[in-house]
Amino acid sequence: MEKILTLISAKVSEAFEAAGYDSFYGRVAVSNRPDLCEYQCNGAMPAAKVYHKAPIQIANDVAAKLGQDESFSQVQALAPGFLNLRLTPAFLAAYLEQTRSAPRFGVEPDPKAGTVVVDYGGANVAKPLHVGHLRAAVIGESIKRIQHFFGNQTIGDTHLGDWGLQIGLVIAELQDRQPELCYFDENYSGPYPAEAPFTISDLEEIYPAASGKSKEDAAFAARAHDATVMFQQGKPGYRALWRHIMDVSLPDLKKNYDSLGVNFEAWLGESDAQPYIPDMLRDMESKGILVESEGARVIEVQEPSDTKEIPPCILIKSDGATLYATTDLATIRQRMQTWNSDKILYVVDKRQSLHFEQVFRAARKAAIVRPETELRHIGYGTMNGKDGKPFKTRTGGVMRLETLIQEITDFVRAKVVENKLVTGDDVEPTTAKIALAALKYGDLMNVPTKDYIFDMDRFAAFEGNTGPYILYTIVRIKSILSRYGAWEALPIVPPETAEAKDLMLALTRLPDALELAYRDCAPNTICAYVYELSGFANKFYHETRILAEEDKEKQQGYIALIGLTKRVLETCIDLLGFEAPERM
Ligand code: ARG
Repeated sequence: MEKILTLISAKVSEAFEAAGYDSFYGRVAVSNRPDLCEYQCNGAMPAAKVYHKAPIQIANDVAAKLGQDESFSQVQALAPGFLNLRLTPAFLAAYLEQTRSAPRFGVEPDPKAGTVVVDYGGANVAKPLHVGHLRAAVIGESIKRIQHFFGNQTIGDTHLGDWGLQIGLVIAELQDRQPELCYFDENYSGPYPAEAPFTISDLEEIYPAASGKSKEDAAFAARAHDATVMFQQGKPGYRALWRHIMDVSLPDLKKNYDSLGVNFEAWLGESDAQPYIPDMLRDMESKGILVESEGARVIEVQEPSDTKEIPPCILIKSDGATLYATTDLATIRQRMQTWNSDKILYVVDKRQSLHFEQVFRAARKAAIVRPETELRHIGYGTMNGKDGKPFKTRTGGVMRLETLIQEITDFVRAKVVENKLVTGDDVEPTTAKIALAALKYGDLMNVPTKDYIFDMDRFAAFEGNTGPYILYTIVRIKSILSRYGAWEALPIVPPETAEAKDLMLALTRLPDALELAYRDCAPNTICAYVYELSGFANKFYHETRILAEEDKEKQQGYIALIGLTKRVLETCIDLLGFEAPERM
């Protein structure tokens, strides 16, 4: 479906041409003076220079031609040369009726849609999820849903950190604590027990203990390092322990991501990329791009046009070990071979931007991707506390994600109970939905690259630019609709009040908000849109007697309008990754 601005611009362009000017000048924008008009065209000003006429004269000529168009209730040429426009209620209603009945509200899918891998989450097994992982999960899930909405086939891949030093640390610590275990017995040849010798709570204590110890005890750190190398090389007892760590960690990670409404289609990790490394390195060798540098094997990625230094991408260290970049490149190879990806989007802390720049350049140089495959790092900023420093617990430690979710849930529950929003069995599920909306919206409303301050009072407020406010707007509409009865088939009718028209005009802006969010991988534009739309919806609700309206036809029109508003708001928050309760 054509966007409304495209339709209006076409009409105005035609009028420019009919008046003897180039149609180029007919581009229309949403008015920045809503008190004066709904849309405006400023083309007469630049046209004046070309046609050597006063801009107002050109605006008048165009207005005269446009005057006959039945789509406009106001066409006004205003000094020095503005064209101010308002749509007729009938035109607006006909347009929105099309929106209402079209699939996806008439938003066109991307003609170049294909297969998109979104790499987000990035949790590290054996370590608890901390708030740093929150942003990846929240932003990544939304970006994935937006990609899907525009017709792409999407694969969310969590890219677990399951191949690094944290595994060696756990192994070394376990050996110190329980040296008698069969995993450490050089003469034992298996089979290894099916049951892990630790639980998730053990693991949650073992890892930080080991990590702390390695910072003080150099010998222990060296043993952890050796254990890492041996497990990576396939030592059977260590591989068995790694399996246990995975088996114990994964269900816990899944539970955490579930509670965030975050779902991955692929639970692959760094370990899954390892089998792709030898082939990839051989390939790079044969292409002659893997070169020697201070004992390491690297790919040079500096380009003549660079204004800053981009260090080479190191693939094999002098001791033979492979690195984070090696794994990431092998992962790209896997993603190309398995899914023939058209786009790979990385939702990862912006502090890793140099790493991705190096990896992307190396991937192109090694032709691991097709030339047209898009590789993009969507770097996000830090979530800070009110002191402006990275968010910490009250005692200054790293806050675990579970704890953070618990805190905001408790905070919201207290409000739900105090205000008797719901009672009995409804309290927990409603609380969970509001808390999630507060948390996610508080994050997503910011441009991803920006740092932001986590402020529970502000995020969980029912008024202002917050998730709960958006939910509240939806719930309010739902309640009217359910009291009204069947509404789904009612058509949109011409607005009679300013509030109805404003709400309808806001609804026509949906495609622009979504397209911007898609193009820029910027969920914040959807937040800005739902906030604006909610404002108009609430104004309409306040100024209009909907259920008490006696004129049945009028009432049907109101109901159709709020029904469409509800569907649009619900679609938007689904793209943000949360949903509204039935009541609150
Ligand atoms: N596990 C990494 C971390 O915690 C994030 C992984 C991001 N994804 C990637 N393909 N490198 O920092």
